[in-house]
Amino acid sequence: MTRVTAAVASSASRAESRAGRSPTRPIVIAIDGPSASGKSTNARLVARALGYAYVDTGAMYRTLAWYCLQHGVDVHHPRAVTAVLRRWKTRLDCVDGHVRLLVNGYYPEKEIRTPEVSAAVPLVAAIPKVRAWMVKTQRACVRFGNLVMEGRDIGTQVFPETEFKFYLDASLAERTRRRQADGIPEDLAQRDHRDSQRKAAPLMVPLGAMVVNSSGQTPEQTSALILAEIRRRLEARAAEPPGARPG
Ligand code: DC
Repeated sequence: MTRVTAAVASSASRAESRAGRSPTRPIVIAIDGPSASGKSTNARLVARALGYAYVDTGAMYRTLAWYCLQHGVDVHHPRAVTAVLRRWKTRLDCVDGHVRLLVNGYYPEKEIRTPEVSAAVPLVAAIPKVRAWMVKTQRACVRFGNLVMEGRDIGTQVFPETEFKFYLDASLAERTRRRQADGIPEDLAQRDHRDSQRKAAPLMVPLGAMVVNSSGQTPEQTSALILAEIRRRLEARAAEPPGARPG
């Protein structure tokens, strides 16, 4: 098991700054899309192929919903939920290339996947102060180096400046089939409606994103397509004259 702590990873960029060099800005691959569009599987495959750290931002929203349920905080009350953000003790770490949000030193890996948490999470994710806290925490993940980050608002709110934006989609019928195969019965049409109609950071295709429809494709086919596009863009970057871009 390889563990990278935030303090160790950020000391490298501090050393670069001390040496008078501007630290190289980590590359962020943003992968957005609706539930069961194949984001997690593809983001993991892409991260592994590139050797980048993988960040599941949905897990962070789920962690907050889980914590509220655990501590009797009413998720229908935005004030009660935002009060949690002031008192819970969180930390980021990176284990085997997977960035995790820990609460009081604990990573609730299984607990955040229950139907109760799935029902509560859209409520907490709709609260603007929660989104601001999450965006700040997600941006802090660059301390672990280059990232593949998946979610709903990565290319629009978290890293709108990245050149590597992908929007994964699949037909509702196929996404419903995938969820059923995972043993997670869920009304995806209702979840899509909630995620795309909420006022704060609704799900949408980010400007400049490559839209990938994974219907009828295996994860290997879809991730190969995404990887080919990333490599094409990385090569184009490498061919630019020095000083052509900031950072
Ligand atoms: O991807 P998921 O099902 O684990 O996401 C859980 C919830 O969090 C879902 O309702 C959408 C929300 N979410 C969000 O609003 N923004 C993100 N970047 C990631 C997830």
